[in-house]
Amino acid sequence: MLFEKGSSQSAAQSTADKQPTAGNTAKGLKDYYAAYFPIGTAVSMRSLTGPDAQLIIEQFNSITPENAMKMGPIHPEENRYNWATADSIVSFAQKHGMKVRGHALCWHEQTPRWLFKDSAGNTVSKEVLLNRLKEHITTVVNRYKGKIYAWDVVNEAVDDDNSRLLRNSLWYQICGEDFIIKAFEYAHAADPNAILFYNDYNTERPQKRERIYQLLKKLVDAKVPIHGVGLQAHWSLTEPAENELRMAIEKYSSLGLKIQFTELDISVYPWEKNRRQKLPTDVDTFTPEREQQQLEQYKKVFAIFRDYKNVITGVTCWGISDRYTWLDTYPVAGRKNYPLLFDQDRLPKKAFNAVVTF
Ligand code: GLA
Repeated sequence: MLFEKGSSQSAAQSTADKQPTAGNTAKGLKDYYAAYFPIGTAVSMRSLTGPDAQLIIEQFNSITPENAMKMGPIHPEENRYNWATADSIVSFAQKHGMKVRGHALCWHEQTPRWLFKDSAGNTVSKEVLLNRLKEHITTVVNRYKGKIYAWDVVNEAVDDDNSRLLRNSLWYQICGEDFIIKAFEYAHAADPNAILFYNDYNTERPQKRERIYQLLKKLVDAKVPIHGVGLQAHWSLTEPAENELRMAIEKYSSLGLKIQFTELDISVYPWEKNRRQKLPTDVDTFTPEREQQQLEQYKKVFAIFRDYKNVITGVTCWGISDRYTWLDTYPVAGRKNYPLLFDQDRLPKKAFNAVVTF
């Protein structure tokens, strides 16, 4: 057992029992942050048993299915849902007293083949697509009503191109911006108690921040049932800068929205959107320099999270340990990355220590 269950120890601890040793963190991340916000991780079916499950139980009090509730996996055919993995994840959380963030009801990626087409292969009308969205959201949200406390309702609708507000996805091409409003309305009707989020990446970069703010403001002003904004937090050794992160939190929360960091990882490489190939010159070891810079970045962002604990209602890491991360395959396939707080042996990294020492 890595932490004492029911321990009444507060965040203000003596340094002695904060030092993680091999295979032993005196307490879990969630215990250090008990007075701040839940600490979550993204999970798959595979992580619900064995040593990953053990680490999840010890460290985290919230989980997000990494893929299982996306529309493609959970709703592969128009008249067929695939509940098995999602159900297992929700029961795991219930068994261990964890919160679940649902992810994601409406996104332009990982969509099922049938979604945008009719049986003749033609693109569907706006009316048909909104009906499909309604049926999907109502069914999924309803199934987990009372068990999933928060949903990422719309994911990544704002464009990367600074001259446009919304991404030119099929959702947008067919429905205009109505799909966003409708998605929130359907989710709210299905579970009026669920906390509903708009979720996106690069949320601290000034130009994207302004456009996301513009979208959120429109939704809030129109009284769309949106309660929070998810900042994915796929970050790097150099991004975000402290002032950018603070500004983003202040700006979004000024709309009365809660903030969650929903997919936190700190890549040891700069973001290279257009590179897929590993090059012979790539050094993909976790060098002491990278370890140090990553530790400082983790320390900085968690200190800022603590500063804004009155508006931050959750921080979720996008994975459990460096043994598995989506960043090993994306954007550069086959380049090992080390973005999380536990190493490939599932032991706490120095960055872990930096995050729990305050
Ligand atoms: C986005 C999505 C996540 C996940 C990551 C990559 O951030 O919101 O669900 O797919 O990309 O793992």
